[in-house]
Amino acid sequence: MEKTFLMVKPDGVQRNLIGEITGRFERKGFKLAGAKLMSISEELAQEHYGEHKEKPFFGELVEFITSGPVFAMVWEGEDVIAAARQMMGATKPSDAAPGTIRGDFGMIVGKNVIHGSDSKESAEREISLFFNEGELVDYQKDSLAWVY
Ligand code: TYD
Ligand code: MG
Repeated sequence: MEKTFLMVKPDGVQRNLIGEITGRFERKGFKLAGAKLMSISEELAQEHYGEHKEKPFFGELVEFITSGPVFAMVWEGEDVIAAARQMMGATKPSDAAPGTIRGDFGMIVGKNVIHGSDSKESAEREISLFFNEGELVDYQKDSLAWVY
């Protein structure tokens, strides 16, 4: 089954949105494969956001993502990468539809509450950047018989 990397950003943790956000993915029917509250080092932040190295917002992005704890997660399910991006909403909260996480909780692009992998390649890269193999749990979830 497909896996994606999702992360409640420091603003989401500070605003007590961990439960709200994980609840949305649980209720949708996705399966949690791993999760942890953690601080991101400067090195990990630069690596994670490497594709944006040349962008004018890179410095602020790294500063923000290292400014407080994040809640890192791996979620599993059919087409979870694309579905999670839909549930997150557009990068810029003012473009994000109501009902999406960024549409419901975000105000500015620099503090947009959640990160999610945007492709199979980035999902694999980001999962292995944030989680060791032993931190991911493979288990049966009987309730999924009612989802699929
Ligand atoms: P990006 O990968 O384009 O968006 P997404 O998170 O939706 O995949 O950008 C990464 C993060 O960089 C984005 O979530 C917020 C920040 N960012 C800015 O601060 N300013 C900007 O103009 C853009 C495009 C992104
Ligand atoms: Mg991105």
